[in-house]
Amino acid sequence: METRDNFTGKIGIVLATVGSAVGLGNIWRFPYEAGQNGGGAFILIYLLCVFFLGFPLVMAEFAVGVKAKANVVGSFKLLAPNTKWFLVGIMGVVAGFMIMGFYYVVTGWTAEYFWQAIQGNLLHKSSEEYKVMFDSFIASPIKPVIWTVIMIALVHIVIINGVKNGIEKVSKVLMPMLFVLMIILAIHSLMLPNAMQGIRFMFEPKVENVTSYGVLTALGQAFFSLSLGMGCLITYASYFGKDTHIPRIAFQVTLLDSLVAIVAGVVIFPAVFSFGLQPDEGTGLVFVILPTIFQQMPFPIFWSSLFYLLLALAAFTSVISLHEVVTAFVKEEFSYTRKKAVTLVSVAVLVLAVLASLSLTLLFPVIFDKTLFEWLDFITATILLPLGGVAVSLFVGWYVDKRILLDVLQQEGTWKFRFFKTYIFLLRYLAPVCIMLVFVHNLFA
Ligand code: TRP
Repeated sequence: METRDNFTGKIGIVLATVGSAVGLGNIWRFPYEAGQNGGGAFILIYLLCVFFLGFPLVMAEFAVGVKAKANVVGSFKLLAPNTKWFLVGIMGVVAGFMIMGFYYVVTGWTAEYFWQAIQGNLLHKSSEEYKVMFDSFIASPIKPVIWTVIMIALVHIVIINGVKNGIEKVSKVLMPMLFVLMIILAIHSLMLPNAMQGIRFMFEPKVENVTSYGVLTALGQAFFSLSLGMGCLITYASYFGKDTHIPRIAFQVTLLDSLVAIVAGVVIFPAVFSFGLQPDEGTGLVFVILPTIFQQMPFPIFWSSLFYLLLALAAFTSVISLHEVVTAFVKEEFSYTRKKAVTLVSVAVLVLAVLASLSLTLLFPVIFDKTLFEWLDFITATILLPLGGVAVSLFVGWYVDKRILLDVLQQEGTWKFRFFKTYIFLLRYLAPVCIMLVFVHNLFA
């Protein structure tokens, strides 16, 4: 078997992991969920979920990966030999594969919108026309499929180059670009007339807007956005050096991920209010409402190209992490070379993603009122990820030897982790109970 390579240092670790976390979840999903759930109160609850539940779980996944230094399945096998815990890893691999099935398709959409934007095709249309344009694009049997295939091919090239020369290099270029683009767009949005109305919408917690559904959506969103619940962070942490300060890196990643979500809101909501549109448009917010807004600004081609480029970059580094989880599993558990493993994964996911894209065309049957695309999203986000999150918190909270855990977190005793007791309490009780609430609610809602 080839040797495992590592990220080269702290900056590589943070940028690659933030690259995984920051994605469509932050820039596409978070704003429309905040918009539909009343703004400020939702965002407050989302942040509470991120810091009280998400952050401890990020640490837990990191600890498992740093200790075991193996793919998801291998990690559970190493830390819990002769038990059934490795099934949690298998579930993670399956979830990763299924998420890729639809995530690649949406990543392709973002590339198409970038392509349309630079050609100046997102101009002079009404929002109804943009809606028709979007609906007919995603339901066409050729274009979205071609983009999906291109995205898989690009990720394939990155991953074949390995952790240090592939994933880390790409993240080090794309993530700083993404931060700069976001800041430019946010400043631009803040200078629009009536921008303050959008800011007030985001930061004024109107308690009367909180619904139980909103709370649960916020929790689900926090997990999806942090790439939690399927061992994505276990896999990445297996490439961290042993001398990694886990709580610190976990905190930085958590903070940056939620910051990007908030800044995405600052890009979008002032613009929505400034042009007299409604924030509760839903999934079309980014593909239908934003083109309507961009065309009313000076230099519309510039701003819209910049935005869709940002979205595509964010999606790209996230889907890399999903692809790597499955690749690392195949590589290590079957003792394949990286090249052979990634090729196998790319071909398999190509079939699934193409089918998912085609499932939105009229050629495909709708199975129990959802398309394959919607099933992949639904099964992973509402079933597999929450179950994976509970499993990891129980595994680290109850099963893993506390001395070993403390040792990993404290880098073999080089500093003192003072909140260890609180931390264990969170993992043992608070996190599993809260996640189960989301799970049960989502199943029966
Ligand atoms: N976090 C990414 C986003 O916000 C998506 C993602 C990447 C993900 N890897 C994951 C979600 C693992 C859940 C699990 O778009």
